Amino acid sequence: MLLDSFNVKRSIKSWEDDCVTTRRSKNFRKRRLKLFGIKKSDRVLDLGCGDGLNTQILTEIGVRDVVGLDISKNLLSKASKNNPKIIFIRASAEKMPVFRRKFNVVLVDSVLHHLKRYDKALMEINKVLLPSGYLCFIEPRRLTLRKLYDFICSLPISGYIPFLRERSRSYLGEKDIMEHWLRTEEVFFKDLNKFFIKCFLKLDLLSYIGKFRKRKL
Ligand SMILES: C[S@@+](CC[C@H](N)C(=O)[O-])C[C@H]1O[C@@H](n2cnc3c(N)ncnc32)[C@H](O)[C@@H]1O
Repeated sequence: MLLDSFNVKRSIKSWEDDCVTTRRSKNFRKRRLKLFGIKKSDRVLDLGCGDGLNTQILTEIGVRDVVGLDISKNLLSKASKNNPKIIFIRASAEKMPVFRRKFNVVLVDSVLHHLKRYDKALMEINKVLLPSGYLCFIEPRRLTLRKLYDFICSLPISGYIPFLRERSRSYLGEKDIMEHWLRTEEVFFKDLNKFFIKCFLKLDLLSYIGKFRKRKL
């Protein structure tokens, strides 16, 4: 068992596995990642890389220098199997190691909402980025539609509907975290503006997709 950032007890394995079993469509992810305009020559940190699906997509679209970082040993070993040529580091986004070479891009897909101190992570991201570097993120947004979707996923019946089954397990595993995050939304954007300058912020059905440039502190 583990105590996560919000002190919610849950089984490590089932949470981690649920976490990465949703949103598996590679094409969907590819389309999303393309929005960020990451260049093949960019050095990219896939922060909270999970089992490394985005890492794999970045490599497939020709990005040559990708590093993955995650706190989960279990997911990192999967990431490493899925991407044998990539370097993966076990660390926390809230306290990252010092990198000899800084990054052009830090990609954060559905990770900040898991962190109690996402503000610390924003500061750390700022440190590991080059002066002209970008933070590219995808995080859940507060919406009536999401509330409705989450409500449906919280019903036992959703466990029997193939389309909803994994999403439902994942949602139940991170319900408290998600609710905490959705209440924090405005503060998050204020914090974000302390460290970064907006290039774009797109809204899709359930998430924010943002590209922000590093601010000189
Ligand atoms: C929803 S999963 C997203 C994984 C991956 N980015 C993806 O899109 O498939 C959230 C990830 O954040 C990682 N994570 C949670 N807390 C973390 C922390 N403090 N530092 C680094 N990674 C963390 C989890 O281990 C998990 O892999």
